[in-house]
Amino acid sequence: MTEEEIRSIKKEISGCTRCVLSENRTNTVPGEGNSDAEIVIIGEAPGKNEDESGRPFVGKAGDVLTETLDKAGLKREDIFITNVVKCRPPENRDPRKKEVKKCRSYLERQLKEIDPSIIVPLGNSALKTVLDETKISEKRGEIFEKNGRKYMPTYHPAATIYNRKLRPQLVKDLEKIVEISEGGS
Ligand code: URA
Repeated sequence: MTEEEIRSIKKEISGCTRCVLSENRTNTVPGEGNSDAEIVIIGEAPGKNEDESGRPFVGKAGDVLTETLDKAGLKREDIFITNVVKCRPPENRDPRKKEVKKCRSYLERQLKEIDPSIIVPLGNSALKTVLDETKISEKRGEIFEKNGRKYMPTYHPAATIYNRKLRPQLVKDLEKIVEISEGGS
C-alpha cells in the first residue's frame, strides 16, 4: 500500500506546476528509497546532477552521503532520501519561502506514508524549514520531537567537502541515527 501511495505522490510531483521552480526544471526529484524505511533523510533541494537524473544526491554531495552512510552501516536503498523542494532552484540559490510552502505537502505526505522512526534534516536550510531551528553546528546530534515525530539533524554532506573535519562527526551522527532507528535512544 505504502509503496503504491509513494509512487502516486511521485507521479503527482512529476506534473507539478505549483511554483516557479517548475519552469526551469529538467526533471522533478521526488526522492527515492525504501517506502518502509525507518530513516528518512531530507536535503535542501536538487542540484544540477539531480535535476538531470531525477534522483536525489547523485553529485559530489551524494557521493559523500553514500560513503558516510556506508561507514555507518547503511545502504541508500535501506532508507528514503528526499529534499525539502522537489525541483532545482536556478543557479542553486536557496529555495524561497513560498516555494517551500507550496512543496511542503509532498514532503508531509511522504513522511506520513513512510512513517519512519527518525527523520534527518541535513544542514541549515533543511533544519530551518523542517524544524524552524537555526545553527546546525549547535543542533546536530540533538533529538527533536515534533508532531509525534522524532528528528535528528546533522551536517549537510556538502559542508564536509569544504570542511573535512566535519566528516567524522557526520558519520558519528549517522551511527547514532542507526541506533535510534533500531530502537535505541
Ligand atoms: N544537495 C541537496 O540538498 N539535495 C540533493 O539532492 C543534492 C544535493
